[in-house]
Amino acid sequence: MLEVEDIYTSYGENSVLRGVSFEVMEAECVAILGRNGAGKTTTLRTIFGLARCNRGRVRLKGADITRTPTWRVVRAGMSLVPDDRGIFASVTVDEHLMIAMHASRGRPKRLSPALIYEMFPRLAARRHSLGGALSGGEQQMLSIGRAMLAGPDLLVLDEPSEGLAPVIVEMLENVLRQAKDSGMSILLVEQNYRLATALADRVYVLGTGRVQFGGTVAQLDRADQIRNTYLSI
Ligand SMILES: Nc1ncnc2c1ncn2[C@@H]1O[C@H](COP(=O)(O)OP(=O)(O)O)[C@@H](O)[C@H]1O
Ligand SMILES: [Mg+2]
Repeated sequence: MLEVEDIYTSYGENSVLRGVSFEVMEAECVAILGRNGAGKTTTLRTIFGLARCNRGRVRLKGADITRTPTWRVVRAGMSLVPDDRGIFASVTVDEHLMIAMHASRGRPKRLSPALIYEMFPRLAARRHSLGGALSGGEQQMLSIGRAMLAGPDLLVLDEPSEGLAPVIVEMLENVLRQAKDSGMSILLVEQNYRLATALADRVYVLGTGRVQFGGTVAQLDRADQIRNTYLSI
């Protein structure tokens, strides 16, 4: 589904990614773990064409999407739930979904807002509320619902559980499990070890600009050195 091969990305003189490689197979959920500042968000920004890599290749379903404009990446089948959620304060829930419908024209598998409301009943009740009036959990649901509307082949989420109450995190886990069961591939960046390892088929650990570990959850559970050095748990 996604192949990331040896990418290097820097901000000015500050080189952040120094040869990051990983892959996500079809219908697989892959988690990327790592401390604050490890380069997780930069990795996602690079594959979505929001940050420019100096070296390396990104392929989606076999097509080279390295340094491709973001809107083309989305049309090609990859949607992002960004770390800041990207909700507009003065736009209603309904309008967010309408804008997303418009932006995903040309996607073969896109869903309807009605289906998103079925998935998130809480959003249906809030459909006429402004983005700025939503709770953190509701904003996250809207951000995920909006990303799913395009019917992506690969859904990418940047720390979706951050700042959410445990009961909302549980809901999030259920929604992502349903998405996975429906055949959607998922790339989940998380610091919540429990959530990530509950959902993921495979895990990568990012540290000092490189992938320091790649393997199954069972293998990571046994890799004490990796967990102690590169994760805050
Ligand atoms: N826009 C930016 N300009 C300059 N440096 C940045 C920018 N964004 C992130 N960085 C730096 O890149 C490093 C990795 O950041 P980031 O990818 O956000 O890590 P993570 O998501 O794992 O917390 C950090 O040292 C951070 O300070
Ligand atoms: Mg981040």
